[in-house]
Amino acid sequence: MRHMIDIAELSLQEIDDILTLAKDIIAHPEVYQDDCNRKKLATLFFEPSTRTRLSFESAMLDLGGSVLGFSEAMSSSAAKGESVADTIRTVSCYSDIIAMRHPKEGAPLIASLNASVPVINAGDGGHNHPTQTLTDLLTILTEKGRLDNLTVGLCGDLQFGRTVHSLITAMARYGNVRFALISPAELRVPGYIKENVLEKNNIPWKETEQIDEVMPELDILYMTRVQKERFFNEADYIRLKDSYILTTDKLKNAKEEMRILHPLPRVNEIEYAVDQDPRAAYFRQVQNGKYVRMALMLKLLGLR
Ligand code: NCD
Repeated sequence: MRHMIDIAELSLQEIDDILTLAKDIIAHPEVYQDDCNRKKLATLFFEPSTRTRLSFESAMLDLGGSVLGFSEAMSSSAAKGESVADTIRTVSCYSDIIAMRHPKEGAPLIASLNASVPVINAGDGGHNHPTQTLTDLLTILTEKGRLDNLTVGLCGDLQFGRTVHSLITAMARYGNVRFALISPAELRVPGYIKENVLEKNNIPWKETEQIDEVMPELDILYMTRVQKERFFNEADYIRLKDSYILTTDKLKNAKEEMRILHPLPRVNEIEYAVDQDPRAAYFRQVQNGKYVRMALMLKLLGLR
């Protein structure tokens, strides 16, 4: 039985298979509409979510299956003190596949060790978010036509942004990919990612606090929100929250073919006027999220 806890568990071939399947689902949704007939997805969300939970649920419904679950920890027995291990043993009795989001890093891994059905990490604290990365990869592939030979700028909260950690881990495996890490000094990419992913694999990367400095080089600009819920004090959050605000003016220096991604939710880091720019791909990215999750669930359930 396979789980999806960390994007590094997938080989490049498996990622390619998922993206290829997602593209086929986009082209021929009717072929897949009954694949998950009588299958149940449980969504266990111990942290807020709009896109991830609803895209998982919409994905299962479009595959002909059904969904159950909870969208806040306080409405589950976690509020009474139940452990993740016991919750998962229970939910394994009632569902065929589980998508779980949790504020504690590693909670979905613990869940997978105690589950009798596949567990998907839908975001664990400031750690990983592999299904957002599959979404990002499908978006980059459809927008740019390739996943190699790209200069990728990641901007914002690179310390706590779990989507950033998973995306760097995945993109670093494609040929001739280089990174520009744009953040305030306090919110830089964690050392373990620099050492274990970037340095270890000789990936070209640089750090800067100035987005304008690297804008002309970028093929992808991945904007992120400052992760308020991970801060220890509000004063630091307030000081850092508006470090980067992407405006139409700042985009004047960017390539015509650059694409702007954002996992969303946006707070203040992209001005609304940017949405009209053809380079803004973040709402197309949202749409892709459903299709990669359909493809991933079909693979984990052994149905395709
Ligand atoms: C992201 C997350 O939850 O990590 N959202 C998402 O799943 N699309 C990004 C964020 O919350 O900033």
